[in-house]
Amino acid sequence: MFNTNTINRFQQLETPFYYYDLDVLRKTLEACRSAASKYGFHVHYAMKANFNPKVLDVIQSFGFGADCVSGNEVKAAIEHGFGKDKVVFAGVGKSDKEINLALDADIFCFNVESVQELYIINDLAKAKNKIAKVAIRINPNVDAHTHHFITTGLDENKFGINTWQLPDVIAALKECASLKFLGIHFHIGSQITDMEVYKNLCTRINEMQDWFTDHGFEIKVLNTGGGLGVDYHNPDNNIADFESYFKVFSQFLNVKPGQEVHFELGRALVAQSASLISRVLYVKNGIKKNFLVLDAGMTELIRPMLYQAYHQIENISRTESEQTVHYDVVGPICESTDCFQKDVELPQSYRGDLLAIRTAGAYGEVMASGYNLRDIVGSVYSE
Ligand SMILES: Cc1ncc(COP(=O)(O)O)c(C=O)c1O
Repeated sequence: MFNTNTINRFQQLETPFYYYDLDVLRKTLEACRSAASKYGFHVHYAMKANFNPKVLDVIQSFGFGADCVSGNEVKAAIEHGFGKDKVVFAGVGKSDKEINLALDADIFCFNVESVQELYIINDLAKAKNKIAKVAIRINPNVDAHTHHFITTGLDENKFGINTWQLPDVIAALKECASLKFLGIHFHIGSQITDMEVYKNLCTRINEMQDWFTDHGFEIKVLNTGGGLGVDYHNPDNNIADFESYFKVFSQFLNVKPGQEVHFELGRALVAQSASLISRVLYVKNGIKKNFLVLDAGMTELIRPMLYQAYHQIENISRTESEQTVHYDVVGPICESTDCFQKDVELPQSYRGDLLAIRTAGAYGEVMASGYNLRDIVGSVYSE
């Protein structure tokens, strides 16, 4: 995927850095927009996946809304031109300060994750003489069949309101005059590629909306969350399957006249647009293992260490026809878990070679840290 000019450009640069291919980003956004527009679906970009300013500007230019999980994300969304009427705010632990900020910004909707939070938002809105629009994030107990570290919609997860608490939700909504109920919200996990999972989610959403209707609450917004996965094993085959994804919801979701269907996609929009580019610092040939020690580690990309996530690793300074060696590709951080991948077959590699760790555009740069007092990783763009 990297042409000679790009690799030559990389040679001149200090590593490590994130490289953003804005063409891939735009093609992905266009594919999503066109697939969603067939059904009139509303897509909010889940900013937690990547809030690099340039990435945000490109995404905003496609007309998506923003899904935020902190006050600062709400602020950044508005600063980057995402209309306030397209900003949703989720999170199990919204602080009073963050709620006040979102109230002042007149956002589209709070996705509320506990009964207690409903009362707090109501009190804060009342103090400002405002009406806060809310959707109830329901934990549907649907298995996302994804890695257990990134599942969110099961009873044992901390997210959302469990169904047995819904009578308390109804009581709170009736009591809280400074809240306006918009609808229901779900998010069951991330990196989901099995469309059956979304079919099951639709069934649960249909049941839940019937329940609210039976209790006299009209639903305007059905927010299904995000979670669509990408192919980490094929970084060049880089557009997520938006067509099948939206089609499942169009087929199985019971959308009533006047209702809006909302989505909150993060990973699928940005993952394939970036690679982490790093240099080999040292080659350690042992008896049992060969190590490639890179100048990037868990401080730049923590997904492999945090979620046992796979990223394709390529030596872009060598051709594939060269003799190969098996390496454990590790970072420089003083932690044994600082390993990108064990036993990777790569062309024989040398100090100074450039390695690309692919599909790093989602939950990559945003999770960078300064642990070991390292510099925070920078970014480079294709244009
Ligand atoms: C509430 C909510 N919506 C949307 C997303 C985006 O998920 P993804 O990046 O898998 O699309 C997340 C991610 O954790 C989330 O917590």
